[in-house]
Amino acid sequence: MKAVVWQGEKNVKVETVPDPKIQKDTDIIIKVTSSAICGSDLHLYRVLSPIMEEGDIMGHEPMGEVVEVGAAVDNLKVGDRVVIPFNISCGHCFMCNLGLNSQCETTQVTEYDRGAAMFGYTKMYGHVAGGQAQYLRVPQGQFGPIKVPKEGPDDKYLFLSDVLPTAWQAVEYAGVKEGSSVVVMGLGPIGLMSCRIALLKGASLVIGVDDVPERLAYAKTSGVHVLDYKKLGDDFKDAVLALTKGRGADCVIEAVGMEAHGIASQTFIQKAAGKMPDFIAEPLLKTAGIDRMAAFHQSLETVRRGGTISLIGVYNGMVDPTPLGILFDKQITLKMGQANVKSWVDKIIPHLTDDDPLGVMNFATHHVSIGKAEEYYKKFEKQEDGVIKVVLKPFD
Ligand SMILES: NC(=O)c1ccc[n+]([C@@H]2O[C@H](COP(=O)([O-])OP(=O)(O)OC[C@H]3O[C@@H](n4cnc5c(N)ncnc54)[C@H](O)[C@@H]3O)[C@@H](O)[C@H]2O)c1
Ligand SMILES: [Zn+2]
Ligand SMILES: [Zn+2]
Repeated sequence: MKAVVWQGEKNVKVETVPDPKIQKDTDIIIKVTSSAICGSDLHLYRVLSPIMEEGDIMGHEPMGEVVEVGAAVDNLKVGDRVVIPFNISCGHCFMCNLGLNSQCETTQVTEYDRGAAMFGYTKMYGHVAGGQAQYLRVPQGQFGPIKVPKEGPDDKYLFLSDVLPTAWQAVEYAGVKEGSSVVVMGLGPIGLMSCRIALLKGASLVIGVDDVPERLAYAKTSGVHVLDYKKLGDDFKDAVLALTKGRGADCVIEAVGMEAHGIASQTFIQKAAGKMPDFIAEPLLKTAGIDRMAAFHQSLETVRRGGTISLIGVYNGMVDPTPLGILFDKQITLKMGQANVKSWVDKIIPHLTDDDPLGVMNFATHHVSIGKAEEYYKKFEKQEDGVIKVVLKPFD
């Protein structure tokens, strides 16, 4: 089959690899009909290179048709249409029963002291082949896959794999209520969808922050008040205060993560690690503070006293400098983590109606054949040609 394979830093290629096979009774195999590229893939493409291995298959946002079912999976049959959550969870352990699927104790990667396994996310997350491929083995097939109707285009359901539940969790964790003021750092797919969900939940003001003109313009069409933090420079904080009665926002959603632009400090560790032999780089990445904290610091500046920061952008460092004194003095609630995909799905599906209140049908900016993956990873990483969300079509 064809698959998007990691070859090295900023280097993915489409190659022919062996088809996946059922390995456990609880596995299923799907034929992938759509598979999106995520901002989290860019972390693997760039700074997390040292924990990747040549030949790793990328991708964690797939959907498709069931073509094979393990003996212990009795809720799915060949021909069913399914969306696959990016985290792999069992549905019956202590954590899954708490709704914390991203911490599933059945699939946790204890060797690296990490949470639940994820598709296409390195050995640190279970070394499970990813979904940017023609076929995918799905472990925990008895629980993970989300069965969807056979009618309608893929895009109506595809974003249940990651963007929708992730943004939903971001908004829930931020404590957005009717009348809340909300700042969203980063207007990539996750930030954009968080803005839309915050408005759906009755936020009276949503301020979206980025510096990419197309992304600011896209958010504006959803009723978001947009700010270009780079153009504003030192006036950025005051611009938010001016919109929030001088206090700052009730809720801040940080949808940027470890590769925030803006502050150069710490980039040397990422760069250095990327150029070192793996046996040196890996421990460095596991222990050093490798994250660029600019967007988190912007969040701290713009949240009001007693407000909430919801961190949905991914961080990976172990000793990042966190201004605990500011968090304490401002009495901030901080919630974060990988999305517990399955726990939010039932809340989201009622909004996937024909009038499309979350705009999923026009959410992807590009649909391209998997053969163009290399080109579109480059465009997405450079934020060129208005590329915001790319959906790969494995059989086109
Ligand atoms: N927690 C989860 O379960 C989960 C799931 C999916 C994605 N993510 C993470 O969410 C983050 C966003 O994902 P995405 O797909 O939207 O990625 P993306 O790379 O398309 O978007 C990030 C955006 O942040 C902007 N940005 C950079 N620095 C900024 C700054 N200092 N202030 C404001 N904006 C800034 C960029 O211009 C870009 O538009 C990534 O870190 C990704 O790994 C987390
Ligand atoms: Zn993703
Ligand atoms: Zn579990």
